[in-house]
Amino acid sequence: MRRPWPTALFLYALAGFGSAALADDTIANHLAACAACHGEHGEGVNGAEYYPHLAGKPAGYLFEQLRGFRDGRRVNAPMTWLVQFADDAWLREIADYYAALPPRTQRADTGAAQLTPERARRAEQLVREGDAVLHVPACSACHGTNLAGLEPGIPATIGLPADYIVAQFGHWKTGSRRALAPDCMHDVAMALTPEDIRAVATWLSQQSNPDGMRPAPVGSFAPPVSCGALAAEGAR
Ligand code: HEC
Ligand code: HEC
Repeated sequence: MRRPWPTALFLYALAGFGSAALADDTIANHLAACAACHGEHGEGVNGAEYYPHLAGKPAGYLFEQLRGFRDGRRVNAPMTWLVQFADDAWLREIADYYAALPPRTQRADTGAAQLTPERARRAEQLVREGDAVLHVPACSACHGTNLAGLEPGIPATIGLPADYIVAQFGHWKTGSRRALAPDCMHDVAMALTPEDIRAVATWLSQQSNPDGMRPAPVGSFAPPVSCGALAAEGAR
């Protein structure tokens, strides 16, 4: 089934979301129901503590995440419900659509949580250098020195709410979020303490992307560890 959400769209329309969706056949209109949680152009909802933005992330990455919700490698009730009957061709179209939109430029958490200078230093150390004792490579070694990601499978870490990042680390630790093996983020998550995770998530949530940098092209640098996400069937 190609466009499998008449019921979903109807329910969201009832709730006041995406009421213009059904008349028009453009992909943007088919995805109107997504805007309530991910922003009108996938740029995220300002002030939302949890919802990730989608715009400008690598298409291969987005495709794998959508398949993950459908196939049980990621768990989130509304997301699973929305994609449960979607075929790969439609998920690929959705992924391509959001990947082509301008990336999020604003930081996620404005004000709110502060880090002590010591915690901020620790966060920056993990991001820029990693921790040799814990066998954690620098986040930037895989996500890029500008943290804008790497095609086809590594997303930007900027612009994501701190609570979302902390929750993903919890999902990786407990196995309710899984990427194809080797699952790099599982290994990173297992090595870090809750304090490190909170510090790095808070620090990242305060970084912005004012120049709208896109993920680096395929193969423009090599992560220190091979990640299944870069070789996934759906990645290009
Ligand atoms: C009711 C709110 C809601 C709606 C509506 C919604 N999403 Fe989501 N979406 C979420 C949440 C919450 C997450 C993060 C779940 C988690 O913790 O893993 C998410 C995650 C995602 C991700 C993974 C993002 C990433 O960076 O890993 C993609 C892709 C996505 N949604 C696409 C969509 C699309 C396409 C639609 C419309 C068909 C949609 N979502 C509608 C709440 C929603
Ligand atoms: C060895 C490479 C590697 C390293 C080091 C690494 N990452 Fe990742 N990261 C990945 C890959 C690959 C993905 C995509 C995983 C997937 O497909 O689910 C990812 C995904 C993520 C996501 C998910 C974003 C979203 O939108 O859901 C976050 C957050 C993240 N990484 C944060 C970090 C942080 C913080 C660090 C440093 C402490 C780090 N990563 C270090 C490879 C890496």
